[in-house]
Amino acid sequence: MIVPTKKLFEVAYGKFAIGAYNINNLEQAMGLFRGNIESRAPFIIQISKGARAYTHKKMLEALIRAAGEIFPEAIFAVHLDHGDEETCYDCINSGFYSSVMIDASHEDFETNIAVTRRVVEAAHARGLVVEAELGQLGGVEEHVKVDEANAKLTNPAQAESFVARSGCDSLAVAIGTSHGAFKFSGDQRLRFDVLEEIQKRLPGFPLVMHGSSSVPQEEVERINQAGGNLKGARGVDENQFRRAAELGVTKVNIDTDGRLVWTRVHREYFLEHPENFDLRPIGQVFMSDYAKFIAHKNEKLGSAGTLEEVRKSISG
Ligand code: G3H
Ligand code: 13P
Ligand code: ZN
Repeated sequence: MIVPTKKLFEVAYGKFAIGAYNINNLEQAMGLFRGNIESRAPFIIQISKGARAYTHKKMLEALIRAAGEIFPEAIFAVHLDHGDEETCYDCINSGFYSSVMIDASHEDFETNIAVTRRVVEAAHARGLVVEAELGQLGGVEEHVKVDEANAKLTNPAQAESFVARSGCDSLAVAIGTSHGAFKFSGDQRLRFDVLEEIQKRLPGFPLVMHGSSSVPQEEVERINQAGGNLKGARGVDENQFRRAAELGVTKVNIDTDGRLVWTRVHREYFLEHPENFDLRPIGQVFMSDYAKFIAHKNEKLGSAGTLEEVRKSISG
């Protein structure tokens, strides 16, 4: 069942975080639904602009509709990830999405507010909610001076004013994470001090953590042993998700880790089965491993086991 993103946030806020997982294809869709059902968790399916262009935007919509029928117990929202203004309007008008993200974080503060405001007006008119972003994600390298590093992070005072003036419904904050598999070069951590300050200024307001893949070292090692070259790949400590959730992080974005599962499964399989050229056996292995991976993430996010509570709260 596709539900409004807002409903998921209302149930989860302060208690657990909802996993927001990107998908591009059939195997990811099936693994995602299976993993969430097995761990009894609500979830958010994220579709990026690149994912919409990979086959066809209608293909992903059809896949998700079909998966929703195959797994009628599933409770999920469909969200546009890192949208530009044009893509946001396309998703809002499609009638299929639960929420959109307008990412104008690369713009100056005033332009970010103005663009976000326009998308919010269009989305609210159709009953959708909007995620916006303030601050710059990006690895805060160890050699970078504290002032320079802080300048990239979300400024808590600006966050308060940004939310009031843009009307956005959730906010992606930069607290030290970055996209991809190479997040940290040394001993950096999430900046909980910044997150705490943001939550003080925006109590009860859903915050979003992008760049939250943990880049499991076992996956990286296995990929490298099977011919890959991902030396130095590192991610966020997944044991920190619960603390982030207590501080208002209600949505945690994970994409890279799923790609690592895909890469490990395929590299190992073809190394061990050089004679094989059938796509289905390996597809089965991936779907099964991806489902296990999703269930594990949901345990770490605290969303595992909350499906019935969420169902009650949505229908009640
Ligand atoms: O943050 C971006 C997501 O990982 C989606 O990546 O634009 O390559 O689909 P993508
Ligand atoms: P990762 O690259 O850490 O998986 O982040 C994904 C993301 O933020 C999608 O918006
Ligand atoms: Zn992101």
